[in-house]
Amino acid sequence: MQISRPDEQYGNGDTSFKAAGGEAGVRKLVNDFYDQMEQLPEAKIIREMHSADLTESRDKLHLFLCGWLGGPRLYQEKYGGMSIPKAHSHLKIGEHESKTWILCMQKALDKQAYKESFKRYLITELRRPAEACRTL
Ligand code: HEM
Repeated sequence: MQISRPDEQYGNGDTSFKAAGGEAGVRKLVNDFYDQMEQLPEAKIIREMHSADLTESRDKLHLFLCGWLGGPRLYQEKYGGMSIPKAHSHLKIGEHESKTWILCMQKALDKQAYKESFKRYLITELRRPAEACRTL
């Protein structure tokens, strides 16, 4: 009988970063995430909060998530420390906007060749900062 390992395995060290495919894997996840934001009609509300050109947003989220997943702290090296709530304090983010962000991320995760257990772990973990971004 196969015993499935608990999701907690991902929280330690750089296990999550590795499970996400390292820098290249995180880059692909972030690109797919912003592609979803550009394509999904229901994501229009959060797409419009961003600049017309998403290059910098794609770049920053990639750098940030590498460190957040336990990998190299690339965002910090380039921009210094950041607080997720502060970085979003000028935006109108309520429950709907937060859930829409998570929806884009879920759809991006669906496209990745990650283990199902890692996809479930990651979307659960991301709900916390997505909730912390709320200003409404
Ligand atoms: C809850 C829904 C969210 C919305 C609607 C949202 C929206 C945005 C927008 C519009 C920007 C660009 C801000 C600007 O240029 O003025 C931004 C930046 C950023 N967001 Fe989010 N975001 C959300 C959640 C998250 C989460 C959960 C994370 C991390 C796990 C995250 C990480 C970042 C980062 C790293 C930046 C760049 C900050 C900077 O250096 O300026 N965001 N977000």
